[in-house]
Amino acid sequence: MYKILRAEELTNNIFLMVVEAKRAAKNCLPGQFVIVRSHTDAERIPLTICDYDREQGTITIVFQIVGEGSLRLSKMKAGDAFRDFVGPLGCPSEFCKTPIEELRGKKILFVAGGVGTAPVYPQVKWLKEQGVPADVIVGAKSHSFLILEDEMKAVAENLYITTDDGSYGRSGMVTKCIEDLVAEGKQYDVCVAIGPMIMMKFCCLTTKKLGIPTIVSMNPIMVDGTGMCGGCRLTVGGEVKFACVDGPEFDGHLVDFDQAMKRSQIYKTVEGRKYLAAVEGDTHHGGCGNCGGDK
Ligand code: NAD
Ligand code: FES
Repeated sequence: MYKILRAEELTNNIFLMVVEAKRAAKNCLPGQFVIVRSHTDAERIPLTICDYDREQGTITIVFQIVGEGSLRLSKMKAGDAFRDFVGPLGCPSEFCKTPIEELRGKKILFVAGGVGTAPVYPQVKWLKEQGVPADVIVGAKSHSFLILEDEMKAVAENLYITTDDGSYGRSGMVTKCIEDLVAEGKQYDVCVAIGPMIMMKFCCLTTKKLGIPTIVSMNPIMVDGTGMCGGCRLTVGGEVKFACVDGPEFDGHLVDFDQAMKRSQIYKTVEGRKYLAAVEGDTHHGGCGNCGGDK
C-alpha cells in the first residue's frame, strides 16, 4: 500500500497528492510516469510524475477529474493509501540522456498547457539542478485555472504566463506567446510542449514555421500504460509507436496528431476498439500482437 501524505485541490477539479513510493522515487527521472490504482476494483490510471523527493521517498502527482476513476481518486485524503502505485514507467526525457555541456549550450523553451504544467515542472527543475537555464511559457484558460506558478517561478530562467481570456499575465494562447517571444528577439534551439493534444498540435505547427525542433508528451492518449491495450498507438514519422512503451515523448514535428486525436475518440467505445483491432491487426497493441491483449 502506498500512503498519501498530502492531498489538496489546487484549483477547479485539479488535485495534487504527495505519495509515499520509495522505489519509484529512488529510480524515476523527468518525463516518466506512474500507474496508480486507488482500490482493488478501480481502473489503472497513468499519470506523469510532477515531482519526486528521493530522500523522503515520495512522488507528487497532479491530476484532473475527467471520469469515474479520477473522481474516485480525488476523494482520497492524506492518510489513505493507494492499492497500486507502479513506476517509474516510460522513457525518461531526452534531456536526461544528453551530455550536460551540450545542454548548457542550448536555449530551451518549455510550453506548458493547463494540467500539462505538472509534467513540465520536474524537467525544468532537473535542468536547473544541472545548471541549465530554461524559459517557460505556462498557458491557462483563465487565472483561476493556473497551477504551480510559484514552483515554476523558482526553477524557470524566465516565466511567461498567458491566459486565454487575458485575466492574468499575457493574453492569448501559448502559440501566440511563442510567436511574440520570437518577435521580441528570443531565439530557441529546442521547444518542449506538454499539454492537451490540440495545444501540442498547434505548438508544433507554430514551431515548425519558426524552425524550432519540438518534443511533445503523448501521455493524454494512454489508457492502461502497459503496452497491451492499444490505446496509445500513434504514427511518428510514418512508423507505428506506442506512447507508453516507446514514449511518452516524441519528436512533435513527426507526430500525426490528427490521426492520434481521431483514434483516441474511436477507442472510447467497445465497438470502436473492436474496429481498431480489426483494421490494425498485429499492430493494434504494443505486445506480441497475438495474445489477445484487450480482447
Ligand atoms: P486547457 O484546455 O486549459 O488548455 C491549456 C492551454 O493550452 C490553453 O490555455 C492554451 O494556451 C493552450 N491551448 C489550448 N487549445 C489550444 C489551441 N487550439 N491552440 C493553441 N494553444 C491551445 O488545458 P487543460 O484543460 O488543463 O488540459 C487538460 C488536458 O491536458 C487533458 O486532455 C490532459 O490529457 C492533458 N495533459 C497532458 C499531459 C501530457 O503529458 N501531454 C499531462 C497532463 C495533462
Ligand atoms: Fe495501452 Fe499504451 S496505454 S498500449
